[in-house]
Amino acid sequence: MHRGVGLAAAAIVVAVAASAAFGPDRTNPAVDRTVALDVGSVPAPVASIMRKACFDCHSDETRWPWYASVPPVSLLVAHDVNKGRSHLNFSEWRSYNPFDRADMLDEACKRVTSGEMPIWPYRLLHPEARLSAADIATLCDWTRVEADRLASGGD
Ligand code: HEC
Repeated sequence: MHRGVGLAAAAIVVAVAASAAFGPDRTNPAVDRTVALDVGSVPAPVASIMRKACFDCHSDETRWPWYASVPPVSLLVAHDVNKGRSHLNFSEWRSYNPFDRADMLDEACKRVTSGEMPIWPYRLLHPEARLSAADIATLCDWTRVEADRLASGGD
């Protein structure tokens, strides 16, 4: 085998072994109910859509699947979860100011309507997260009302 290729292969083996041994961070920080979105205040059908299609990456209540501990998938899953949480984390919802929350809700409706969210690899592995047109309409009806409420002084 060519020496460069051999080294590259060895490097990959080491990287995979290391990520299997130490793994990326797959933890769920404790949820502070005083700042988390109060799911009980959200219409039940909306809460159910968010739980099945959004919360794995946009909350601290991630259901880590078994394949999330198998490298290199583990790295990709942890990356998406950490990135998703850093952009929008419903477990930290009330720590964002109401105008930012309103913007995020508008953006949520846009991204779900355009098919960007949930991201496609997730939809591939989670059939229940493939939202129907009715799911999208249900979600957007709520985001519109809630964004208006927040943008007009609600908290
Ligand atoms: C598998 C992980 C994953 C799932 C599930 C997921 N997202 Fe995301 N989401 C991301 C990542 C990663 C980003 C940041 C990268 C980007 O903007 O594309 C993001 C970004 C966003 C943003 C932009 C936030 C901002 O203001 O920067 C919104 C809004 C959003 N997602 C809404 C949703 C909604 C609503 C759902 C459920 C219907 C959902 N996402 C499901 C991973 C996910």
